[in-house]
Amino acid sequence: MKKIAAVERMKAAAGEIKTQGRILGFVPTMGYLHEGHLSLVRESLKKADATVVSIFVNPLQFGPREDFRRYPRDPERDEALLEEAGVDILFHPADLDMVPDGFRTTVEVSGLQDKLCGRSRPGHFKGVATVVLKLFNIVRPDYAFFGQKDAQQAIILRRMTKDLDLDTKIEIRPIVREEDGLALSSRNMYLNPEERRAALVLFRSLKKAHAMWAAGEREAGSIRGEMLRLIGSEPLARVDYVEIVDSDTLETVDRINGKTLVAVAVLIGNTRLIDNTILGGKGEHP
Ligand code: PAF
Repeated sequence: MKKIAAVERMKAAAGEIKTQGRILGFVPTMGYLHEGHLSLVRESLKKADATVVSIFVNPLQFGPREDFRRYPRDPERDEALLEEAGVDILFHPADLDMVPDGFRTTVEVSGLQDKLCGRSRPGHFKGVATVVLKLFNIVRPDYAFFGQKDAQQAIILRRMTKDLDLDTKIEIRPIVREEDGLALSSRNMYLNPEERRAALVLFRSLKKAHAMWAAGEREAGSIRGEMLRLIGSEPLARVDYVEIVDSDTLETVDRINGKTLVAVAVLIGNTRLIDNTILGGKGEHP
């Protein structure tokens, strides 16, 4: 595996792969890799001739009071995992290379960026879209792989790619869960044992939504009400949002007809966790 830090070197290495006519797969990450990331890597290795994985804790997507500084980092372990997986290039740029002094440009996917997580994390998706477009310009991948756990991010990046006529195809892969149902997240490491147990309430609320839908319930309000009740019964949990929305536009739905996203964000102690499921489509059901 080649390790590259400099933007210009990454551009050159990606350019070489493209000149050879090889299909380039790309997995952008913030590191501290878990099985969810590795499932994206494996998919890229299957689909593409060469795979680039980036590790960059993007300062642009953290608010001033968020966890940028304490966000978990373990580049040596990440490197070993990627090497073992058979990745071709690890791109690990420095903060100042990606966001140099004087950096002024931002990408906004208006409307979509302000809903759900965007309400409690203003500026977050602007930071994500900006850095992902920048990474796409450096790597110029044929395919880029993202996880369904960040459902809103996936929808926003699909929209950006379409709106800006980017050549990269966005591939969204299913949520990877622990055996008991907790969705994998680098932030799970913040949880103490009691919080780890309480964190299962997210998955339980989604299972409840799915069970109600499977039993014929189509009123979004009654499903949402039951989910809020269930989460409310967990003393360590504080709801940020429970939303039942159209899976393309993120507009709230009253009745569940087509493919519908049920998304939750819950604070467990000080740790904000998200999870989701799709009702009415071919998506993953808990
Ligand atoms: O999903 C993530 O880890 C990040 O939001 C991403 C896409 C790597 C952009 O920094």
